Amino acid sequence: MTTLNPSLPLSNATLAAPNEAKTELAKITEAAHYLKSRTQAFPQVGIVLGTGLSSLVEEIKVAHTIGYEEIPHFPLSTVESHQGKLIFGELGGKEVVVMQGRFHYYEGYTMQQVVFPVRVMKLLGIEALLVSNAAGGLNAKYHLSDLMLIHDHINLLPDNPLRGQNIEALGVRFPDMSEPYSLDLIQKAKTIAEENHIFLHEGVYASVMGPNLETKAEYRYLRTIGADAVGMSTVPEVVAAAHMGLPVLAISVITDLCSSENLKKITIEEVIQAATQAEPNVTFLFTELIKTL
Ligand code: HPA
Repeated sequence: MTTLNPSLPLSNATLAAPNEAKTELAKITEAAHYLKSRTQAFPQVGIVLGTGLSSLVEEIKVAHTIGYEEIPHFPLSTVESHQGKLIFGELGGKEVVVMQGRFHYYEGYTMQQVVFPVRVMKLLGIEALLVSNAAGGLNAKYHLSDLMLIHDHINLLPDNPLRGQNIEALGVRFPDMSEPYSLDLIQKAKTIAEENHIFLHEGVYASVMGPNLETKAEYRYLRTIGADAVGMSTVPEVVAAAHMGLPVLAISVITDLCSSENLKKITIEEVIQAATQAEPNVTFLFTELIKTL
């Protein structure tokens, strides 16, 4: 059998864990073993691409493309704008594994399903996770297609991927959340952006369940509690990463402006268009950041 990430005492934990956790851990391990045996890959970096942000894949020297439906226990994508593929290859001189299409809680998945791929990537050996998403801009200084480095979040989702029996092999029962977004990665991203004249905001991301967008009163509320942007993803993956001690860098692309006074109607097409405009900069930042790791 192929050796997986040695920092995880898989076999012992699998034996010792009570039923529920053992089942989930066994599924994660099985998916990781399947991918390892198909690809022989040792990815150092995992990447999760958000709505309208999948063209980074074109920069990858692709070694393997694996449909989610081929991977044991992997959930399947339902959102039309997402393609469900795991891509293994080289980017910025490093081995990477990229999720083209992520899972959202609003699609009906459980939180454990939403974070399943991130846990599998960790078992494959990734040492950093890069995440992009489309988000509504709450901060009045933000414009369409601006980029925001997430430096903290407010989790307003109604469930948590760590709820239930703790999977001891992955992390502790009460994970620390003082630095869910790696300050080191943030600093590196800011340096790259500065040197290349890419404008970045830095702010707080609030995660909501969706799938509806928010009312004016809700946008006002989110701004009041300290959020700069709002979206329906990312936080579950970040919580699971923090649980496993995996450093994260996450970028929001501002795809709509959430003014509580002057709120305009917005369609998914407009969200995707605003995301697409910012895509080259996100791809550049991720690629250059990977070179520094
Ligand atoms: N609200 C929630 N999620 C979003 C938004 C928004 O305004 N824009 C993009 N994702």
